[in-house]
Parts: sequence; C-alpha cells; structure tokens
Amino acid sequence: KKGNYDHFMQKEIHEQPHSLTTTMRGRLKDGAVLLGGLKEHLKTIRRSRRVVFIGCGIPVTMEVASDLLDRQGPIYREDTAVFVSQSGETADTLLALDYALENGALCVGITNTVGSTLSRRTHCGIHINAGCEIGVASTKAIGSDQISTQARREAIISGLFSLPSNASQVLKLDSEMKELASSLIDSESLLVFGRGYNYATALEGALKVKEVALMHSEGMFAGEMKHGPLALVDENLPIIVIATRDACFSKQQSVIQQLLSRKGRLIIMCSKGDASAVNPGGSCRVIEVPKVADCLQPVINIIPLQLLAYHLTVLRGFDVDQPRNLAKSVTTQ
Ligand code: UD1
Ligand code: NA
Repeated sequence: KKGNYDHFMQKEIHEQPHSLTTTMRGRLKDGAVLLGGLKEHLKTIRRSRRVVFIGCGIPVTMEVASDLLDRQGPIYREDTAVFVSQSGETADTLLALDYALENGALCVGITNTVGSTLSRRTHCGIHINAGCEIGVASTKAIGSDQISTQARREAIISGLFSLPSNASQVLKLDSEMKELASSLIDSESLLVFGRGYNYATALEGALKVKEVALMHSEGMFAGEMKHGPLALVDENLPIIVIATRDACFSKQQSVIQQLLSRKGRLIIMCSKGDASAVNPGGSCRVIEVPKVADCLQPVINIIPLQLLAYHLTVLRGFDVDQPRNLAKSVTTQ
C-alpha cells in the first residue's frame, strides 16, 4: 500500500497534487465553485447571521470544539456551524455538533470520510474526496476564505486549477528539506512566524513538527513578536519566517530585519525570485516556493513544512506513522 514510499505520511505528502485534483474534480465549472453537497442549503446559509467553523487541532477562525464546549459558547438558530474533521469521527467535534444541533443551528460538515458520523449527522456538507489518509498527522485538512469581488474570484479559481502543478513544483524541495532537517536534529525548539493567511500555515507547520518529530515547536503571529517571543531570540533557536508575497510582505521584511539584528537563526520562506529581497545579507537559509493567489498560498507553503516534519522525524529515529500518544481519530474526549 505504501508503494515506493517508506511511510504513509511521506506517501500522503507526495500525493497532494493528486488529492488536490480529486478534491476539486467536477466542482469547478464555468468560473464558479460548485459544491453539490451545499446546493440545497445555500439559501439558509446566506440568511444566517454568522458562519462558525468548528474543528480540532487548529483554531480555524472562531471556535475550537473542546473550548466551545468548555465555555458552552453561544450558538444560535440563526447560525451556520461548519464542522471540520478529516475522519468525521473526532469526538470533540461530534460533541460540539450535538451541542450546535440542540441549539438549532444549521450544521454543515466538511470531511474526507463518506458515511462518517459527521457526514451522517450534519444537515449537509462537503466530502473533500482527497483519498484516504493513514498517517496519523493529518495532511488533508482544509482552509476556507470569503470571496468578495468578481476579479478576485476569477483569479482564485484559475489559481485553483494550477494548484496541483504548483504543489508538484514545491514537492521538489524534498531533498532541500531533508538537508534542513539534518541541521535541526538536535534543536530543542523551533518557532514558526507567520501572519495574515499564513498564520494558519505557521500553526499547522509547528503542529506537524510537534506531533510527529516530537520536537517543541510553536506557530506564532509575527506581529506579536515584540510582546514576548523576541526575548527568546539568539543564535541557536531556529526560527522559520514565512514571508511569501502578499499584503503582509513588507511587514515580514521588517520582522526579518529585527530578528537578524538580534542575531536570530532564520530560515525564510519566500516567493520564487525573492531570495535577495528577504535575505539581502545572504546569511539565512531560504526556501523559495511558487507564488499563487494569496488565499491559496498556505496550501503551497505548508508542503515544505510537512516535508521538514517528516524528515526530522525519520532522522530523529521516531515512528512517522504512529506518533507517540496519538491516535488517528481522537474518538475520546
Ligand atoms: C455527489 C456524490 C459523488 C458524485 C457527485 C455527482 C456521494 C457521497 N457523493 O458528490 O459521488 O460524483 O455527487 O454530482 O454520493 N454531506 C453531509 N455532511 C457532510 C458531508 C456531506 O451531510 O459532512 C452530504 C451533502 O450535503 C450531500 C451528500 O452528503 O447531500 C454528498 O456530499 P458530497 O459528496 O460533497 O456531494 P457532491 O460533491 O455533490
Ligand atoms: Na448529512
């Protein structure tokens, strides 16, 4: 089943161009995104007062399932609650679903698993169709974005078409990421600084490093650096700064300057051709990735971080597909 790969996680990282294609198959038509699973409920969704995303692992926008339950946070009849779970069986997410159903919200599922509890119990939803996922550390979770103007919508939709080939491009960084991993083997900690769309990338990348490579790692808002994390910066602590081109680029450039003036040990992720713009002194390691529409960029940017987490795990001698203390589906609370 693993084919030419040593581990399922490795296989699933490298199959992302294909999973992106199958996820989108039949769903991009005439310059529009068509989600059959939501069609009949679009009116209700448009009428709702809020859209609340609920999942585990990463706080996507609003609510983390366990925290929503801890606080018995407000969910109303006028809400659309979106539940995200690769397996569709994540216990905290399902408990939050029961809670949202009791409170009368329209419940929408986003899951990779047809027939899962999440798929069955939600009013409607979307199957991601990304192929099965066996590696415990999820590589098939998804992001979402509100699209306002027509031109922007078109740019994003054409970006979706080229996403699989851009994902293939970035997978060629594999040996570079292996080399980076070997330079980080003995580090105690790894920070990942992102902002805007790529704050989620920083969180997700750090989560992979933590859960698979068993190395302490934190994803952080680059904008919050001065309120604490800057104190940690020295020539030993490796810091990944995500500085691909988007509206936050110049802010990230100044973050890099500030970190360098503290002699920070930086690994900078930037758009192709930007190496000298982000690293004029040439002292840092740079990861260059293809540029795509800003809201799609995290789908590309996460891939080198997945490869890094994978190689770190192998080089540190840990089990890639069965991380310590983790189960594929967290079906207990
Ligand atoms: C569906 C078919 C797909 C077919 C396509 C053709 C299934 C599972 N999918 O895909 O094989 O090629 O039509 O048009 O038969 N749902 C939930 N909760 C969830 C996820 C989904 O209730 O968390 C519901 C949806 O509202 C929908 C159904 O499950 O009623 C199928 O969803 P999805 O597979 O995303 O729909 P299509 O992409 O239209
Ligand atoms: Na359903």
